[in-house]
Amino acid sequence: MTRILLPLLAFFVLSCYADIAIDTDDGSAKLSVAQFDCLYEEGDRTYIALLYDSNGVIDPTGLQNLENCGNAHHDYDNIQILINPCSPGNMCSNNLTSAKDQANEIIALTGHNNLIPTLIGVHKNGWPSSNSMANQNFLNEMIDTFLGANYTFIGIQTSYNSWSSVMGNKFSVASKAFLWWVNWNGKQDLTTGFAPFGGWSAPIAHQYAGKVTTDKCAPGVNINYSYYVHGTFQKKNGNKKFMSRI
Ligand SMILES: *[C@@H]1O[C@H](CO)[C@@H](O)[C@H](O)[C@H]1NC(C)=O
Ligand SMILES: *[C@@H]1O[C@H](CO)[C@@H](O)[C@H](O)[C@H]1NC(C)=O
Ligand SMILES: *[C@@H]1O[C@H](CO)[C@@H](O)[C@H](O)[C@H]1NC(C)=O
Repeated sequence: MTRILLPLLAFFVLSCYADIAIDTDDGSAKLSVAQFDCLYEEGDRTYIALLYDSNGVIDPTGLQNLENCGNAHHDYDNIQILINPCSPGNMCSNNLTSAKDQANEIIALTGHNNLIPTLIGVHKNGWPSSNSMANQNFLNEMIDTFLGANYTFIGIQTSYNSWSSVMGNKFSVASKAFLWWVNWNGKQDLTTGFAPFGGWSAPIAHQYAGKVTTDKCAPGVNINYSYYVHGTFQKKNGNKKFMSRI
């Protein structure tokens, strides 16, 4: 009896107080409407689509995933976009090298939907580590372009190590962007192992597992899992408005 009850209880406790967000890895991972419904039934409530790749292209898979998620029968609480910018010194396929031009490309693509939460990835493998001043200026310019277009939610997806090596530990954008903390420690909370960095005293969400594949819902697809407190992201009409434009 208890064997059956305990996991059930754990499930209900988790689903009352915590929510899960997922993002899928690089280019190839196209998810169908049915797969988004299945993932919702597994507890996922927010989907983050990778929309911009660090080699300087809009990711068509990310666009397709956004549309499919919006068409799921289950109504996701929140849909967000992730930008891995073409950072300073990189070859950008679309020739948009400035942060401002890249942000404006996304703003045009999202139909000036300033309600869509917008995450910028700062990962060691996508940015040069040797030039933190150029990296800092680039990030500031990108954030400021979104803020100038009245985007209301800007987050930085990064880990302590990535931030320190790309931006320098003391550099801060905490006054204008939230921290989406990456630390694959498996803990579904905002606190275990967190030490303040980059001016952030706490994260708004925690990517606690990455590049996970299971046989459920989306076999073979790498999925990153994040935890956030239920209610952090509200359902916004903006989701559907955005979806209808692509
Ligand atoms: C998954 O997480 C890893 C590490 O944070 C990151 O490099 C990768 O870009 C993530 N995938 C997406 C789509 O964000
Ligand atoms: C980018 O610039 C190169 C060199 O000028 C050019 O050959 C290429 O067609 C440009 N690409 C785009 C997408 O404009
Ligand atoms: C941003 O909001 C301000 C104040 O409401 C408004 O004056 C301005 O035109 C808006 N800018 C854009 C780009 O929508």
